[in-house]
Amino acid sequence: MSETLLELRKFVIPEIIIGVDARLLIDRYISHFNAKKPMLVTDKDIQHFEWFHQTIALIRPHVEKLFFFDDTTPNPKDVEAMCGASLFLSLGCDLIIAIGGGSVIDCAKCISIVASNGGNVLDYEGVDEVLMPGPPLICIPTTAGSSADVSQFAIIKDTSAHIKRAIISKKVVPDLALIDPVPLMSMDPYLTACTAMDALTHAIEAYVSSTHSALTDVHALESIRLINQVIEKSVRPDRTIETMFQLMLGSLQAGLAFSNASLGAVHAMSHSMGGLLNLPHGECNSILLEHIIRLNFETVPNRYRDIARQLDLLVDKVSDALLLEMIINRIVAMRENVNIPASITMDALEKATVDYLVENALNDPCMVTNPRTLTKEEVRIIYGRVLQT
Ligand SMILES: [Fe+2]
Repeated sequence: MSETLLELRKFVIPEIIIGVDARLLIDRYISHFNAKKPMLVTDKDIQHFEWFHQTIALIRPHVEKLFFFDDTTPNPKDVEAMCGASLFLSLGCDLIIAIGGGSVIDCAKCISIVASNGGNVLDYEGVDEVLMPGPPLICIPTTAGSSADVSQFAIIKDTSAHIKRAIISKKVVPDLALIDPVPLMSMDPYLTACTAMDALTHAIEAYVSSTHSALTDVHALESIRLINQVIEKSVRPDRTIETMFQLMLGSLQAGLAFSNASLGAVHAMSHSMGGLLNLPHGECNSILLEHIIRLNFETVPNRYRDIARQLDLLVDKVSDALLLEMIINRIVAMRENVNIPASITMDALEKATVDYLVENALNDPCMVTNPRTLTKEEVRIIYGRVLQT
């Protein structure tokens, strides 16, 4: 048994209900929490869907008033969270319901932190800096990727420094996740692709993380197996609810793994790029993943061999060199099959901007658990490959 497996590890998750129409149990839980003035945190894009109205209609009879906060944007900002928190307090709200993708749920988590702890949301950056638990938080995720509905992570953009800050604390684990594949049926195929690749990245980074454990490994591997089976089907016009359920289950298992094992260099570099250049998180990860696998492989080849088996690759008797190429080929094929490009085209990129990207990536907390330490030069070279001018 390796030394790592004998080290102490913790595993924190919320109450989870997963299945078709799980969201329709919301009324029962509103009553459980005895909430009278919930605040719904959501975005403007999903409010016209039938499944959204069905869900909201179930809440209203159980509360005095349902307040809406939908001033959320992709890559959620500190100012949005501060505005939401001040509204939550001034209206005397007693529970938060987040219905949306990772950005909405991260914003809801940040509102919850400030509502209970005061100060500025950026005061809580880092690991275990949140002292008081927030008000009850119920999440209904509408994408299969971020797993913010089960994770100890909240990512928020510092709008002064143009950096995404990571708040990592068990105090931001939601109380309840109602994980329902129905909202995924109305998700745009490109968003589906990017969020699914984000989930795959969570699973791979958690599996090779320096703080992985027996409990996180089992979820990471199962997640890779599930996502590999359904990712291409999930972006087709004839996708089925069964396919989307499998994708959601894969995303959930990735969330259970990375929330407790943390992430790695893909996320560190993606947070830096996404924060400064305002790029979609899943797209950044999809583009970076193959490059980081190439750099990390030699440090933990046997763990990548396990990953390859979940990708359905026949690798029992192949050399490490061939194994690496087989994994990269499958990851690239997956990205191409769901129509995500290999790089992002920028108007111009000054040297000072790249320096800032490199510095922020190296300082991101996710870099700490990457299986090997990346040099400034390695990070710079990868940015040069994925950001084309
Ligand atoms: Fe992610």
